[in-house]
Amino acid sequence: MKAIYSLLIGILVSQHLAAICVSEGFDFFYFVQQWPGSFCDTRTGCCYPQTGKPASDFSIHGLWPNYNNGSYPSNCDYRNPFNPRMISDLRIRLEKTWPSLACPRSEMLRFWSHEWIKHGTCSESILNQRAYFITALNLRNKVNLLQILVNAGIKPDGRLYSLGVIKEAITKATGYTPGIVCNLDRSGSSQLYQIFLCVDTSGSKFIECPVFPRQMCGSSIKFPSFGASTQL
Ligand SMILES: *[C@@H]1O[C@H](CO)[C@@H](O)[C@H](O)[C@H]1NC(C)=O
Repeated sequence: MKAIYSLLIGILVSQHLAAICVSEGFDFFYFVQQWPGSFCDTRTGCCYPQTGKPASDFSIHGLWPNYNNGSYPSNCDYRNPFNPRMISDLRIRLEKTWPSLACPRSEMLRFWSHEWIKHGTCSESILNQRAYFITALNLRNKVNLLQILVNAGIKPDGRLYSLGVIKEAITKATGYTPGIVCNLDRSGSSQLYQIFLCVDTSGSKFIECPVFPRQMCGSSIKFPSFGASTQL
């Protein structure tokens, strides 16, 4: 009897390992956070959610499977559509930390659905829909970028800061080099828009990035405030 059990367990374990090995289909995750002030002060502007103006804090843009060569898989499984019921109990946390600022009307479910369909389905062999959103929320809890920057004297006050100093502050605090992506404000100044951290395929550990996104930043960049006057 005992031998049969261990044989069965052996088969189950090896099937499980085989499944992990074949079906991953990506090398690591980018965990991407964005600064709402830089989303809103562009020419396109932004629209606040019905729940009101989001906090003046970094929010989640997404958790994106990526390849070591810099390209990424997308839209991996149309048969696994976004199902809001699977995350209904996470909704308040998601509204707070993963808000949509898109116009003409901020639609949270639409944003989350887009992220799941485009990116999340490409890691579905490891994280089902619910686990995918929980993983992103947990990662957000592990690293408080605004606190890290403010501690280093880098504040969202509309002033210019050295890109190198921003990277160094995050590297020192997290142990890993971030990718920084900039965009342009209405007057064409380069500003701190998104911060990329890399995460292993299980979604649980930060790792050194195998490859960085194209940054498009100047050597000093603006860190705009997330003021009241930016909404369209
Ligand atoms: C990058 O790597 C992936 C997975 O190995 C591969 O499918 C894809 O074609 C590669 N893309 C480029 C541009 O080399």
